[in-house]
Amino acid sequence: MKQQLLTRIHDRTAVVGIVGLGYVGLPLAMEFAKAGFKVVGFDVSTRVCDLLMSGKSHIQDVPSAEVAQMVRAGRFEATADEGRLGECDAISIAVPTPLGKTRDPDMSYVNAATETIARNAHAGMLIVLESTTYPGTTREVMQPRIEAVGLTVGADVFLAFSPERVDPGNAVWHTKNTPKVVGGITPACTEVAMALYGSCIDTPVAVGSTEAAELVKLLENTFRSVNIGLVNEMAIVCDKLGVNVWEVIDAASTKPFGFMKFTPGPGIGGHCIPLDPHYLAWKMRTLNYKTRFIDLASEINSEMPALVVEKVSVALNDDRKAVNGSRVLVVGVAYKKDIDDIRESPALDVIRLLEERGADVVHHDPFIPKFRDDHEGGKDHRERIGVELSAAELGRADAVVIVTDHSQIDYQQIVDDANLVIDTRNATARASRGRARVVSLAASPRPSTSASPSSAGRAKTAVG
Ligand SMILES: NC(=O)c1ccc[n+]([C@@H]2O[C@H](COP(=O)([O-])OP(=O)(O)OC[C@H]3O[C@@H](n4cnc5c(N)ncnc54)[C@H](O)[C@@H]3O)[C@@H](O)[C@H]2O)c1
Repeated sequence: MKQQLLTRIHDRTAVVGIVGLGYVGLPLAMEFAKAGFKVVGFDVSTRVCDLLMSGKSHIQDVPSAEVAQMVRAGRFEATADEGRLGECDAISIAVPTPLGKTRDPDMSYVNAATETIARNAHAGMLIVLESTTYPGTTREVMQPRIEAVGLTVGADVFLAFSPERVDPGNAVWHTKNTPKVVGGITPACTEVAMALYGSCIDTPVAVGSTEAAELVKLLENTFRSVNIGLVNEMAIVCDKLGVNVWEVIDAASTKPFGFMKFTPGPGIGGHCIPLDPHYLAWKMRTLNYKTRFIDLASEINSEMPALVVEKVSVALNDDRKAVNGSRVLVVGVAYKKDIDDIRESPALDVIRLLEERGADVVHHDPFIPKFRDDHEGGKDHRERIGVELSAAELGRADAVVIVTDHSQIDYQQIVDDANLVIDTRNATARASRGRARVVSLAASPRPSTSASPSSAGRAKTAVG
């Protein structure tokens, strides 16, 4: 079985299936198609399948032209017909792994995908889970279900875990050139999975077990969450000390060893960093261990939107205005710069908290002209239409809050035309003086020359 599959991978006659055609699955499908495989993409969303089959991409990092080319060449097909998975020799699963209401892992998508594959599995198939999950998922959840249809893992079929590391919007590191970790249930599983990924990813990296591969991803994202939590706490420290946090971070970053730059902000978002560490925390709770770093970082990071709103409130107060009734323009609602994804974005919390205090909130985001906060856990089901970043809109706002520092936004225009700017990303640091009073998340973005006495000790600087 193993040799047959290795040969099919080597000569590109293997058919590759991708289950879940989202941010992770679609780029991966394209890599396999470009490497010469026939790829069958399976997604429960017929809307996604229809869109892709018409040659249009719904993922920013994947050009529509690429999808159209692969569809035309017969190398990529998207389908909602699960029976088509039976044609596949290798299947990668990239379905969501969100948290439930109690912040425990929601394994329903992985379970459903596993059942679908088990119903269509055949001898000689490789199955790889890519969805981020807790250590033990592949062996404890997937293996029994696949073996329940009479196929032995390691002999008849091959089962592995390989975490996805895609960084949406990253122009340098993408699916192909980012090293990919692979761990199988047995050495034969690892060998086959390494051969598959080695055919389209520059650097596959083998580890000794599925648990190690699962934990690699959680370590990476916990590392980010903890360091962002640390630097957010440093922002609070600097704010209280009246020290410019950006200056401190930039200076610390000149150390050529032993320091890695992280920057503070309005909170964390996306499908990974706010969620993944909780998968590990949950697993460890079942083993009577409390992951303290994870809990503390999560606590600090999730408090940042409230801190931003407090900054807005204090700054408006300095202008003798209340939040209640003030017009606030939020600039950037994506969870990070230069992408169009609002999942778990701290902007959603900032907007909600401001509105709870009676503010009239509008937004501008070049990547997200309109949105509805109706993802899982979303509270706001209204469609929000963005406003232009015009002199009129900036001047009309009592406060402008920069939440996401998209590269294409004209920050000089903001400081020229706004009255008051709360800058949570240090995005206005390179703008020269304008009309607006700029308030930073943590102490002044540059030496203050005309801060009013009432603002002494608070993060406040006059740019104009
Ligand atoms: N987005 C990222 O930047 C990123 C990075 C690394 C890892 N991950 C992980 O990858 C996994 C997928 O994330 P994503 O961002 O691609 O999600 P996504 O929501 O963009 O895409 C998931 C797709 O799976 C489909 N789907 C759901 N259930 C299905 C089922 N049973 N069968 C077939 N299709 C199904 C959905 O319709 C959707 O199109 C998650 O575990 C995530 O944590 C995401």
